[in-house]
Amino acid sequence: MRRVTLLDIFTHPITQKYLGRSGVSHAIRVAQYAVQLAKQHDLNPDLAAKAGLLHDIGHYEWYTQGKWDFEEYRKYDIHAIKGAERAHRLLIKLGENRQDAKEIALAILLHTDSYLPDKNITKTSLQEIIVTADEMDEEPLGKHHYRKMELNDALERIAQLDSDIEHVLDKQLRRSV
Ligand SMILES: [Fe+2]
Repeated sequence: MRRVTLLDIFTHPITQKYLGRSGVSHAIRVAQYAVQLAKQHDLNPDLAAKAGLLHDIGHYEWYTQGKWDFEEYRKYDIHAIKGAERAHRLLIKLGENRQDAKEIALAILLHTDSYLPDKNITKTSLQEIIVTADEMDEEPLGKHHYRKMELNDALERIAQLDSDIEHVLDKQLRRSV
């Protein structure tokens, strides 16, 4: 049994406040891709899903006259740094295991190299799959940030992910004993 579910995270007021900035649909689909990739690579699907869901939680509102301002974003973006810290604080508040909270925060920190002075960082497998999951859901001109998803649909996908994760963790545990 996990200490913190995706539903706990998704329904928390902090998540609800910030996730919409970069799009709930994008967050949930990246979490789904991350679980799919974690299964393929035999990685922890729980950490993958949480990092996927929260990877963009650090976004600012980069708007100029109601439109996303790519120039401003490209020049000044540090959303991965803010996101890692925000997600970490939220996870600890919800009672997440500290090692897991750290791994999730690091995967969020390294899901983009947009802010890094040196882009040659060797990533762990978990960090790599979050980059890939994010790319799998990307659309040109940042359109993936604007897709709409009804709350019911979002909650259903979260519940499905929670049950998939339990199932995979169970299987991984049985294999390891
Ligand atoms: Fe993203």
